[in-house]
Order: sequence, then C-alpha cells, then structure tokens
Amino acid sequence: MTTKQLESSLQEARLFAPPADFAAAAHPDAAGLAALHAAAAHDHVGFWADQARSALHWHTPFTQTLDDSAAPNYRWFADGTLNVSVNCLDVHLAEHGNKPAIIAESEAGITRTLSYRQVHAEVCRAANAMRRLGIRSGDRVVIYLPMVPEAVIAMQACARIGAVHSVVFGGFSAVSLRERIEDAGARLLITADGGQRGGNIVELKAAADKALAEGAASIEQVIVLRQTGHDIPMTAGRDQWWHELLAAESPVCEPEWVEAEHPLFLLYTSGSTGKPKGIQHSSAGYLLGAKLSTQWVFDLKPQDVFWCTADVGWITGHSYVAYGPLANAGTLVIYEGGPVYPDAGRFWRIIEQHRVTIFYTSPTALRALMKLGDHIPAQYDLSSLRLLGSVGEPINPEAWMWYHSVIGGGRCPIVDTWWQTETGAILLAPVPGVTTTKPGSCTVPLPGIVADIVDEDGNSVTQADTGGSLVVRKPWPSMLRTIWNDNARYIDTYWSRFQNRFYVAGDGAHRDADGYFWILGRLDDVLKISGHRLGTMEIESALVAHPRVAEAAVVGRPHDIKGEAAVAFVVCRGDRPIGDTRALVEELRKWVAEQLGAIAKPDEIRFADNLPKTRSGKIMRRLLRTIARGEPITQDISTLENPAIVEQLRGDSA
Ligand code: WT7
Repeated sequence: MTTKQLESSLQEARLFAPPADFAAAAHPDAAGLAALHAAAAHDHVGFWADQARSALHWHTPFTQTLDDSAAPNYRWFADGTLNVSVNCLDVHLAEHGNKPAIIAESEAGITRTLSYRQVHAEVCRAANAMRRLGIRSGDRVVIYLPMVPEAVIAMQACARIGAVHSVVFGGFSAVSLRERIEDAGARLLITADGGQRGGNIVELKAAADKALAEGAASIEQVIVLRQTGHDIPMTAGRDQWWHELLAAESPVCEPEWVEAEHPLFLLYTSGSTGKPKGIQHSSAGYLLGAKLSTQWVFDLKPQDVFWCTADVGWITGHSYVAYGPLANAGTLVIYEGGPVYPDAGRFWRIIEQHRVTIFYTSPTALRALMKLGDHIPAQYDLSSLRLLGSVGEPINPEAWMWYHSVIGGGRCPIVDTWWQTETGAILLAPVPGVTTTKPGSCTVPLPGIVADIVDEDGNSVTQADTGGSLVVRKPWPSMLRTIWNDNARYIDTYWSRFQNRFYVAGDGAHRDADGYFWILGRLDDVLKISGHRLGTMEIESALVAHPRVAEAAVVGRPHDIKGEAAVAFVVCRGDRPIGDTRALVEELRKWVAEQLGAIAKPDEIRFADNLPKTRSGKIMRRLLRTIARGEPITQDISTLENPAIVEQLRGDSA
C-alpha cells in the first residue's frame, strides 16, 4: 500500500445515511441487525447453527456445528446431508414455480425468461444426462461456457448429482483451460460452439479442442451447447450436443444427498506463485454464506430484479448469480455480451428494459462507463433501481459519487462489498437499510464475521488510520476448505504467517475512528486488473516460456479505469532489442494472451540487459514499481548488483 492511497482515503469524510423510505422497508432493519450481531457475539458457533437450521433445507439435520479438530481445516455441519440444487430450486416450486428465475439477454438483444419450474426441469435433464454419461458424485466437471442460462443450469445440475464443478472463465486461453482440467482431473467438459463479445464470436470450442489435443487426458466426454450456431468440428465418440442429450432426458431427477462438507466446486484463482490454486468450497457452509449475504447485503425482496454483471467464471458469478439469488427465490438478470455493445448505453438499457432494482458491478465497469459521459445514462429510465453494489477492487470516491448521483439518482444506497474467492461470500459490507456509508469504505463486518487488522506481530491494530494486514479471527461457514490437491499450500498461504491463529486475507487495510474498514490493496504479488486477480509470477512464467525471453519481472501500476495495469520488464536471449521494438512487444503480448488469456496482456513491455537485483540475486520489485510508475527513485539502490541498469529500465520505454 502506498502513502498516497492512504491519504486519498483519509480525505473522504462524506457520510450517507440510508434514505428513510429504504430503511423503513429494509430487512434486516436496525433492530434485526443488532440482534444478529448480538447473537453472534454471544455464541459464534451457536449463531451459525441457528442460521443453518433456519436458512437451509436439510435431508438429514446436523448435530455437530463446527469441527475444529483438524484446524485450520475446519468442518461445518459435518454430519448433516442436503442437496444444493434442491435448496435453490425444488423448495421454491410450490410457491414460485411460475416466477421468473432467470431473465437472460443475449448480445443480439434476444431475451429469454425461464421460470423456476423451467430452470428446475432443465437442471434435472442436464443432471440425468450427466449421470447417463457415467458422472458420479465427487467427479469433477469443467464448465467453459459463455454467460448464458445453461452455465447456471450446468452448475446446478452438477450440484444435483454431487459432481464437483470447476468453471473456467470463457476469456481464459486453451492453455489455462488445459491446466485447470489437469489439476482437477475432470472427466467431463461442458462447453459451447462459441460465445458473443462485442459483435465477435469467442471460439470456445476451438480452445477446448486445443486444450484436449495438448493434454487434459482425464476428459472422457464433451457436451457442446449450440449458442452461436456457426460451424464447428465435433469429434465422434467424444463430443455430443447439449440439446440432443437433454431432449432424451426426463425433467425429473432424484437428487444426490451429500454431506455438508462434500465439495460443491473448485474455482481456480491466482496467487503469488506461477500456478493458480483450486479453491475448494463446501456444500452447506458455502450455500449458507451465499444465501444469507444475499439477504443481508442486497435486501433481496420477492419483487426485486437483481442484476449482478459478473461472469460465472468468477466467484461473484457463483455466489451472486448461480447460487445466492436462486436460494432466495429471486429473479436474476444475466447478460451475455460486451458492456458497450452495440453502444455505450447497453447496461442502462438493460436496466430500463428489465426494470432492474438491484445492480451489482465492478469499479472498473463504473469508471469506464463514467468516462463516456453523463449524457448516456441520462437517456434511460433508471428509476427502477433501488440499491447499487460494487465489488472486486477498491472503489475510488469519484466513481462512488458518480454511481450514487448519476446512476442511483441520489436515492439508492451503495453497498461496497469486500470478499474473495476464498471467503465464498461477502464478509465486509454495509447492510443497506442500516449502515451509514462512506465513499471508498466497505464499512464493517457482517454478523458472524470476526475481521480484524493486525500488525507484523499479529497484534490487533487499535490505533485509527494505521495500516495492517486484514485477517479473520474465527472460522465462518462459507470459508474455503482447502486448495485442491495441495493442503500444504492452503496452510502456508492463509494460516502459517501468524501460526494458524487467523485467516490471512492478503490485503492491507486500515480502520478509521468509527471502526470502518478501508481496503488498501493486495500485500502479495497479486495484481487486480479490472477487478480480476492475476499473479505477477503467472505472467512472468508465461513470458519466459517464449523462446526470445530469458528473464521477466512483472509489476503493477495504477490505471485510471482498470485500477491496475501490468508492466513487464524483459531480458531477451541474445542482444537487447533496440530501435523499433513494436513488433516484438506485440508478439509477446499476443503470446501472453495465448498462454493465459487476453486480460493478462501487459500494458507495457520494456527491455533491458538485466533486471535490477540485490547482491543476493533477488529482483528489486519495489524499485521496478517505482520505475513503472515513472516516480522519482527514493529507495536505496546502492545494494544493486548492477546500478547502471536503472537508466536503461527508465528510459527505454517500448
Ligand atoms: C481480492 C479478491 C470478491 C469477489 C471478486 C474478487 C479485492 C474485493 C473489494 C472491495 C477493495 C476488494 C481484494 C481481495 N477486493 N472486493 N470491495 N474493496 N478491494 O474476488 O478475485 O478473489 O479477489 O479483491 O484485494 O483480496 P477475488
């Protein structure tokens, strides 16, 4: 974290109390929230047991709430059994069978509305089809689909039969897909002929074919959704069309009753090594977190239309698209396509057309849309909105204020929600009918979440406005259970820093005099580019895999819209490229996109004869960050092995 970030957050002193009419109808209201906090403070484990009993439908009730005998591998509600898809669909059929569950808009502007009964029937058909293909409880299924209802249906269908899904974001490359399939040992891949993005086709099937040609040998069968309708090759004996398979199946499917701790899904995310980690979530604890946080933070009511813009390839698209809203019998909007296609008003038109009441998006999207001018949202009727949310990265006060006044018309509370792939659900956020908000702060922890900020020795930082490491002191039900195939890394990454005493989030934060949390950014080598997590080491490994590259170091630099951008310093094999290096820069950027995905492409690549290293051989990343930002060098460079290199790194901008 930088002093500058700290100062900018300290300057923001405006307060926004919930509007009276919102507060009057909100659930929880002030008394309700106080009661939840009091119950959790009085008996943390008992509180969660009560919540799990009342919020979830159990097949076998649990008798044991928290098992900490193998801490930090905590287990929640372990002797209970349930089914997540039953909790999201079957339980609503009697009362809400005809209610819209999913309103899906395609980039071409075609709307499909699916009722709870229809989603349930499709989930059952897909689940039966997977069973017919031999998929059993515990088997891993990789889902590589565009943002269409079938993505949610496929996830729910896995849950129905106890299969463990691993959704891979459609923007990830064939190489990333292959690595994720291989790490998970998945037997089945569900993909599509393609997706839609900005008027172009995203060639998902081609990427899947490439992944399977180059490895991913555990995959036995591929289900292909017809989405774009363009011609793609199908491999006989391996590939089958979704619509043909499902047409033959019954719309009724006996659920698999799984233990509470049965893994619901893996979701790969970046860490500080070159290899993404498979974050493993449970069934009951995860669902409880997704369901309750949707109620508490989004005040979801029966008549609401909830639009979370996240793709199912990210955790936000799991908890607040595929699971949380459905568990609460909500109506959700999903959109497949570019945010400014065919024009800059797309998002606002979707809100107008579908009468969206709750809108949840990222600061990056807001900054990009803000830049296009207020006259664009002004052309649309946004009066249906009553609540706005932000997620994924710190929201700067300017974007917050724009969201509040231009999009929310000054009447909608904003919930700035802090959480992570690992936390499963929102942990720090306002409760919109109760909490007074401050632009740029995610405010305070939700009931049952014991968050704190600690110093280097693990002592709580009690002094206001003093930075430290964000931690969670007590286990919570939706926390990750482990890293797939690598429990040592789980312990090492999240627990060992402070002797397993608390969960270490990896973020820096400080608290103001009112106890409000302000997130300052990652403390590790993880970048947040457009709210997406990317490890600097991952980009470095991709670069050094290129034949021209001998060594690479990647650092982040602030970016007006994306929040952060990657800058790469590269040492080539042979002579340092000089003169017009544009062709090589483009080749390397394209290479990174092929290895990882387009979101990982560095904004800038600079070449040097060497990287700045200490005498012990460590790359001086802090120095590289200073250079990438074009700031004056204040740190001591006398320990540099090769001081002359600094000039080269600074001047030679490609
Ligand atoms: C990291 C987690 C949470 C779902 C999407 C991202 C950053 C997340 C906020 C926020 C400031 C935030 C943190 C965190 N982050 N929300 N409201 N304010 N920073 O999930 O990809 O697992 O990333 O995103 O740095 O550690 P993720």
